Amino acid sequence: TSLRSIVQNMPKAELHIHIEGSLEPELIFALAERNGVSLPYASVEALRAAYAFKDLQSFLDIYYAGASVLLQEQDFYDMTAAYLRRAEADHVRHTEIFFDPQTHTARGVPMATVINGIHRACQDSPVSATLILCFLRHLSEDDAIATLEAALPYRDKFIGVGLDSSEVGNPPEKFARVFSRCKDLGLRLVAHAGEEGPPAYIYAALDVLHVERIDHGVRCLEDHALTRRLAEEGMPLTVCPLSNIKLCVFRDMKQHNLLQLLDAGLVATVNSDDPAYFGGYLNENLLAAFDSLPLGLQHAYQLARNSFVASFLSEADKQKHL
Ligand code: HPA
Ligand code: ZN
Repeated sequence: TSLRSIVQNMPKAELHIHIEGSLEPELIFALAERNGVSLPYASVEALRAAYAFKDLQSFLDIYYAGASVLLQEQDFYDMTAAYLRRAEADHVRHTEIFFDPQTHTARGVPMATVINGIHRACQDSPVSATLILCFLRHLSEDDAIATLEAALPYRDKFIGVGLDSSEVGNPPEKFARVFSRCKDLGLRLVAHAGEEGPPAYIYAALDVLHVERIDHGVRCLEDHALTRRLAEEGMPLTVCPLSNIKLCVFRDMKQHNLLQLLDAGLVATVNSDDPAYFGGYLNENLLAAFDSLPLGLQHAYQLARNSFVASFLSEADKQKHL
């Protein structure tokens, strides 16, 4: 059996997937039609042709435009069900799914519509799936606090909170109070840091927000003390190879630092981030990395193992997968 087929077939967890980033162009057009929303693109092909990004912000502009077709609970259900079918095909046994409620509540979609639609699709899937509510960091902390309040009636439907959207200029410190409140509520904590932002943002995510995982975090290698600390603490990084290439964090996959992260002893995992926009779901991210970097069988096992170790499954449930 080839290394590629082992990578594809091995049971794995996914820990960094924005559900709005799983919305394929075909579904965007179908939902636009169903909901009578007009899109600034003439066709599926024209939309896909716009997926040429130079940085995070140029992606986010199109990602928020795509999400504008989501209005009814069934839309959120259909989007999530489609992702979970792809995850199942990639032998994903457990996934922790990000969602961005502010992208929808700002358009007048009720919080209940967003959470109930996504959650019901998770319940109907054979894949174990939990939800992480992300705050948009380009908005104010007061907006994040209001969003948390609006979501608390559905506290049983999400396990944690994260921080996403435009990183540079919106450091973790901006969200110190809302994360402290979430910690008191028993929510699990993660944050995007060190994707485009400097190592200082990773330190702040750890020391100010008290996160339990760093999303992306690939710029940690610029700071040796930070790298050592992340390794010693077993602090997981949810790395997204195709995303990093499409958003020009690395010039090409041969330049990606995934192997250096693993060699530094970090609990690095591979994830798809926004698979509909970046050219692939989880197995495509793994295969792209394995095709371009000198990764072997031991790395495949390590990445599969790390994905469960870094998850928010109970210790008993982790053991079943290790
Ligand atoms: N970074 C920040 N915000 C995001 C991303 C990302 O990779 N994907 C969706 N929102
Ligand atoms: Zn992300």
